[in-house]
Amino acid sequence: MTTSALPQKSEPELRVEHVCQRFGDVLALDDVSFSLDTGKIGVIIGGSGAGKTTLLRILIGLDRPTSGSVFIDGQDITQLHERQLQVVRRKFGMVFQHAALLDSMTVFENVSLPLVEHTHLTKQQRRERVREKLDALELGPIEERLPSQLSGGMRKRVGIARALILEPKILLYDEPTSGLDPITARLVDQLIVKTRDRFGVTSLIISHDMAEAHSIADELFVLNKGKLDSRGTVAELRRQTGGLASRFFESSLIQQ
Ligand SMILES: Nc1ncnc2c1ncn2[C@@H]1O[C@H](COP(=O)(O)OP(=O)(O)OP(=O)(O)O)[C@@H](O)[C@H]1O
Ligand SMILES: [Mg+2]
Repeated sequence: MTTSALPQKSEPELRVEHVCQRFGDVLALDDVSFSLDTGKIGVIIGGSGAGKTTLLRILIGLDRPTSGSVFIDGQDITQLHERQLQVVRRKFGMVFQHAALLDSMTVFENVSLPLVEHTHLTKQQRRERVREKLDALELGPIEERLPSQLSGGMRKRVGIARALILEPKILLYDEPTSGLDPITARLVDQLIVKTRDRFGVTSLIISHDMAEAHSIADELFVLNKGKLDSRGTVAELRRQTGGLASRFFESSLIQQ
C-alpha cells in the first residue's frame, strides 16, 4: 500500500468526488461531490427522484457509480472487490425507514442479530451488549417484547440500537421521522444528536423534513434532479436567496 492510500489526519470520514450514476437515459446522480467530517451530522434533503437512495446505496458499497470516487476513511471504495466491501460495510450502521424490525422476533433477537451473524460472542455477552445499547437509548427492560408491543418512537430507538450494535463509525438514517407525529419526530431528532454525542458516530440523514434538517444538521446538502444544488450550514443556506434551499426553507413552516 502506498502512503497516499492511508487516511490523512485531516481526511473527512466520508468524501464523495464527482460521482455520476446513470440508469439508461436517466442521470440519477450528476457530478456530485461533498464531504462530511468525523462526528458531524449531515442531512441530505431533496424531493422524490432527486437521487437520495441512489447515493445511499453507493455510499455503503451496494452499487458502484458509473464514474467518480467515494472515500471512506480515505479509502476509495469504488475500487474494492466484494469481499473488501463487506469489511467497509461494517463501518456503517443503517437505520431503516420504519425501523424494519422483524415482527416475529423479540427486541433482544432483533438487536442481537448482527452479533450472531458477524461475531462469536456468547449469548450472555450478546445480552450485555444489547442491554448497554438499550440503556444508552433510554429504553427500559423490553428485550423480551415483540415489535408489535412497542410504540412508534420505541421501535425507532430499537432500530437505532440494532444499527449501533456492531459499533459502526458512520450511521445512515433513511427518513428517520417519516410517519411519526411531530412530537415524536422531534424526540427522534434529539436522539440522533444524543447518539452522535454518546458514541461519536458520523451521521448522515436522508430527509424530507426541513424542521429536522434545521434543528440537527451541522451541514445540509440539497439534491435536485441528481445534482448537488447547494451545501452549507443551515445559517449559510438561509442567507442564500433564490436557490432550491431557500425554496425548501420557504415551504417549511419554520419560524426563526
Ligand atoms: N435501479 C434503477 N433503474 C433505473 N432507474 C433508477 C434505478 N434506481 C433509481 N432510478 C432512477 O433514478 C432517479 C433517482 O432515484 P432515487 O430512488 O435515488 O430517488 P430518491 O431521491 O430516493 O426519491 P424518493 O424520495 O422518492 O425515494 C429516479 O429518476 C429513478 O427513477
Ligand atoms: Mg428514496
